[in-house]
Amino acid sequence: MSRAADQHEGQAGTPHYKSYEALSQALPKDAMGNPDWDAAVRDGLLDPLPAIDPGVPGEPPLLLDVLFAPKVAGLQVVFSHETHTYWLSCDSCHPSITAMQAGANPITMEKIYNGEYCGRCHGTVAFEVESACSRCHEGVAINAIQPAGNDAGEVLGDIVIDRHSSTNYQPAVVFRHWKHRMHFRCSACHPRVFEMRAGANEITMDALLTGESCGRCHDGLRAFGVAFETCSDCHSHGGP
Ligand code: HEC
Ligand code: HEC
Ligand code: HEC
Ligand code: HEC
Ligand code: HEC
Ligand code: HEC
Repeated sequence: MSRAADQHEGQAGTPHYKSYEALSQALPKDAMGNPDWDAAVRDGLLDPLPAIDPGVPGEPPLLLDVLFAPKVAGLQVVFSHETHTYWLSCDSCHPSITAMQAGANPITMEKIYNGEYCGRCHGTVAFEVESACSRCHEGVAINAIQPAGNDAGEVLGDIVIDRHSSTNYQPAVVFRHWKHRMHFRCSACHPRVFEMRAGANEITMDALLTGESCGRCHDGLRAFGVAFETCSDCHSHGGP
């Protein structure tokens, strides 16, 4: 951790947790014992900004629940736009992940496990699927499928970026979602600054140094900038 990053403490008025362990201890837990980011916001522990520039208001939440009629009795799912539009802008999901029409998306668990539909975020950045049946299927008893407190349920959302680093003799970059979402909602970055898919974004040091991509924030003001002592904060991958 560089000095510049330390000085960035308290941005957006949210507490600063240096390690995932410290954050994970502080976050409220869902019924399965996994970190609950929604509850953290409701409880006032976190107040991430909706946009990069401070003072920009978020879109008002959309109070629209969509019911997925169950293919298997008792397994209905209520999709809450209110929760999702707190974090995300409409164009993160519509139309690239789901068509904007109730019943128009042939969602199955198999597709979710394969990273489609809900599985684009759930299990990669948002809470995972295996131990959390009852969070989506409200009719399912909490420990019907998985024992409560299964700690495989932690989703950190770390992404290794290595399209140009190793070929240029630099350790690959590790982007940590958990660190960034303490300060920013998804809508600050997706889909305008980064397409929501690992490997989809072309990022270079030139872009960074001219205030694009990661450099939208890592400019030495909003967050630590590019300097000799910060290279290894970003180029931090331990090796193969
Ligand atoms: C996290 C992903 C996500 C986000 C963000 C999101 N939606 Fe949706 N939206 C869905 C899903 C899932 C459905 C249900 C699709 C289905 O039933 O197949 C849906 C359905 C809809 C429908 C159809 C409702 C109906 O009864 O036919 C509308 C309208 C809609 N969304 C508008 C919006 C708007 C406006 C926003 C932004 C304010 C938004 N959505 C943000 C995932 C999202
Ligand atoms: C992120 C939300 C989410 C989680 C977590 C989740 N499901 Fe689903 N599940 C869905 C959606 C959405 C559907 C499609 C709803 C529909 O149209 O019937 C579905 C459908 C199903 C179906 C119907 C058949 C099929 O395969 O599509 C079964 C059975 C099912 N889920 C079981 C489970 C079990 C067991 C778990 C936990 C291991 C689980 N689900 C976790 C969202 C979720
Ligand atoms: C674009 C990303 C994205 C997609 C797609 C998405 N979610 Fe979520 N979802 C989130 C985030 C972020 C949260 C906040 C909690 C977290 O991060 O663990 C969340 C929270 C939830 C919650 C808990 C909050 C609540 O309203 O009770 C449920 C349930 C849920 N999602 C179900 C679904 C289902 C079902 C689908 C597919 C139809 C889906 N999500 C698709 C990102 C997504
Ligand atoms: C804020 C994060 C960040 C900092 C600080 C940073 N880099 Fe990078 N750097 C990146 C990202 C992201 C990429 C693209 C990674 C990839 O695709 O492999 C990259 C790419 C590179 C590349 C590949 C070629 C190019 O120009 O894109 C080199 C070489 C590099 N960085 C060197 C450095 C050096 C030397 C420093 C310190 C002076 C540094 N970086 C500081 C994030 C950072
Ligand atoms: C500070 C910026 C930033 C924020 C905030 C952010 N992301 Fe990301 N996200 C990224 C970057 C960078 C990538 C990697 C892009 C790449 O590899 O080209 C990414 C990738 C993703 C992916 C693709 C994962 C995969 O395995 O393909 C998903 C899904 C995602 N983000 C969801 C979210 C959700 C949900 C939120 C909010 C809870 C969020 N992101 C907040 C920057 C951000
Ligand atoms: C929306 C603004 C924003 C964008 C875009 C952004 N960051 Fe950050 N980043 C921050 C802030 C604010 C912090 C300080 C958070 C903290 O340390 O708690 C931070 C912290 C970090 C850290 C230090 C945390 C650690 O792991 O110890 C790294 C590394 C990092 N960012 C890399 C990146 C990379 C790589 C990108 C582009 C792929 C990126 N960031 C894009 C705002 C941003």
